[in-house]
Amino acid sequence: MNSNRIPEPSPHVAAFERMGFGMFIHWGLYSQLGRGEWVMNIDRIPKAEYHKLKDTFTAEDFDAKTIASVAKKAGMKYIVLTTRHHDGFSLYDTRGLSDYDAPHSPAGRDLIAEFVDGCREEGIVPFFYHTTIDWYQESYQEDFNAYLDYLIKSVEVLCKHYGQIGGFWFDGNWDKPLADWREDELYGMIRKYQPEAIIVNNSGLHQRGEYGHPEIDSVTFEQGQPTPLDRRGKSKYVAAEMCQTINNHWGYGLKDFQTKSVKQLIETICVCRKVGANYLLNIGPTGSGMVDSLQKFLLETMGIWVHMYEEAIYGVTPSGIQGVGADFALKGDNGKLYFFVHDLGSNGHSNVTVGGGGIGPRAFTGLKDSIRSVKWLDNGESLPFVQNQDVDLFSFYASGYPYGMDFVVRVAEADIA
Ligand code: GLC
Repeated sequence: MNSNRIPEPSPHVAAFERMGFGMFIHWGLYSQLGRGEWVMNIDRIPKAEYHKLKDTFTAEDFDAKTIASVAKKAGMKYIVLTTRHHDGFSLYDTRGLSDYDAPHSPAGRDLIAEFVDGCREEGIVPFFYHTTIDWYQESYQEDFNAYLDYLIKSVEVLCKHYGQIGGFWFDGNWDKPLADWREDELYGMIRKYQPEAIIVNNSGLHQRGEYGHPEIDSVTFEQGQPTPLDRRGKSKYVAAEMCQTINNHWGYGLKDFQTKSVKQLIETICVCRKVGANYLLNIGPTGSGMVDSLQKFLLETMGIWVHMYEEAIYGVTPSGIQGVGADFALKGDNGKLYFFVHDLGSNGHSNVTVGGGGIGPRAFTGLKDSIRSVKWLDNGESLPFVQNQDVDLFSFYASGYPYGMDFVVRVAEADIA
């Protein structure tokens, strides 16, 4: 067997890659404080005091269908929600494993049951984030094996009671890198109940793109630029996903004004798709479970862009075609090529239009197919091109945005002969 062979993705991994864009949600007791999900640990809040947040957790504004509809408008295909985060509080009914869960709070509901229903109504695939660290269970520090029994049983509850789940997204093994986390047992149990589920275990900020256990289906790039995976000679095809905060916190950040711009969000999804990675963009709902207007506005605006170019975002794979600067192309499952053009100027009038510099020919290398036609995907305007395959030359004329528009990155579709 050729050791440089690239393995074929399994159907569920291929389907995951093609979803392209997902919503991450960090929501829990900590959201009531509005200072991120690590607040208990970083502010050294004693357990007894932190525990009181359970008594005020009403989830009164949590409407899963509304959140799923925001994700859908943003062009996201899946949502990963924190079923339990490091503080140990579960949004689901742990069915007797613990009373530190949503049904035992004033919310009195199984919020994960609502979540999966809300997603399904909107055609969004639900995924479960689950912590592996636990700041609440004493066994985490004192009797690690007893803790792992509890963890595995907790995940079993999630496997058995909520129908088919898109995947499980674990996070925290980086806290005890040398421990035996009994991953064979955990993942084996998941495969038994949820054979199609994507299994992710976040490798953490300092190990971006690390492979990990053989059952893992996707590597993670936390808060960073994803790099292309070298899959030659690997025993299994693994997907990639880049998760990122919309400001600088995962959990609700009431005083975090470092919100990304629509431009940054658009450029970032392009960086991810260029290397075949999914973009998992996080929001932090408020303590009562609402998506605030700023986050909602950013997602919905980005969604206009995503929906405009959807053929080029989902169902695409890297092509090896590279332009100048940030420009690149993707190959669609439909056989077409999609060219991503950055810093394009807009047409107009010399007294009013700024930044016209990018209008003109755009050159790309690495094309294997001969091109038949090129057009802007947003308005169908056809674009003149030249190609000479002998010298790997391909260039099309990138006419500017019509006056009144600037999409940050503009996509051209090419038919191949
Ligand atoms: C880090 C943080 C955690 C967050 C995760 C998301 O691991 O510890 O709070 O949930 O990143 O990727």
